[in-house]
Amino acid sequence: MSRVAIVTGGTRGIGEAISLALQELGYTVAANYAGNEEKAKAFTEKTGIAAFKWDVGDHQACLDGVAQVTDALGPVDIVVNNAGITRDGVLAKMSFDDWNEVMRINLGGCFNMSKATFGGMRERGWGRIVNIGSINGQAGQYGQVNYAAAKSGIHGFTKALAQEGAKSGITVNAIAPGYIDTDMVAAVPAAVLEKIVAKIPVGRLGQAHEIARGVAFLCSEDGGFVTGSTLSINGGQHMY
Ligand code: CAA
Repeated sequence: MSRVAIVTGGTRGIGEAISLALQELGYTVAANYAGNEEKAKAFTEKTGIAAFKWDVGDHQACLDGVAQVTDALGPVDIVVNNAGITRDGVLAKMSFDDWNEVMRINLGGCFNMSKATFGGMRERGWGRIVNIGSINGQAGQYGQVNYAAAKSGIHGFTKALAQEGAKSGITVNAIAPGYIDTDMVAAVPAAVLEKIVAKIPVGRLGQAHEIARGVAFLCSEDGGFVTGSTLSINGGQHMY
């Protein structure tokens, strides 16, 4: 029986590419989504990958969602915490709700999904968790105190949980994408985005499949000696 992977936010954008890359690796994939029913339906029809709806920021919904995936497909050995939102704005204009929603979904989602799956991975002695961070969690970004804080938190979360999983065959890693050609980045005002792209050494936005290949490696059997690491895939925009 093939291993089961959950990709949160797995029916669109970077998540869709990750779902496909893990399917190609031979895993049985469950793609979680939060709201866009139409896109999720089209995704399942196109790929044959089952889609499951729940809010990753809701702790109980994650426990229930993982139970539902387990019943349908089997125990979950791989989790890719990809779901995330932006609520950009300078601090002076950012509401508490803008702060809280980004923390609840982007960072809280990692906790909720790891909490729901880590025990089973430990019992079975094998697991892969990949958290999607961001260049903006590494370097900060004007107008994103909420998003940068949540993504930076993801990088710390990854290193802490990696230490807890290591003895049980569970690797925990992060990928820090730069600016990728997705709906999220398309929402950045054109004039601002133009200035950002001008600072990317390779001279273009990244493509979702370029992130997905990195995730696939970290989730593979061959990735077993890589844990607690962050793989930056950003066209050279931030090197350190
Ligand atoms: N550094 C310094 N100053 C900046 C700046 C920057 N990076 N960006 C904008 N400013 C300045 C502007 O020049 C402007 O100055 P003046 O008033 O003197 O002209 C001032 O700040 C206000 O800028 P805006 O007119 O843009 O302000 P706004 O309130 O309309 O919008 C904003 C602010 C929402 C933050 C907007 O600038 C924006 O959307 N920025 C892009 C943020 C971004 O990169 N988000 C990434 C989303 S994708 C993602 O997050 C995925 C990922 O992981 C990479």
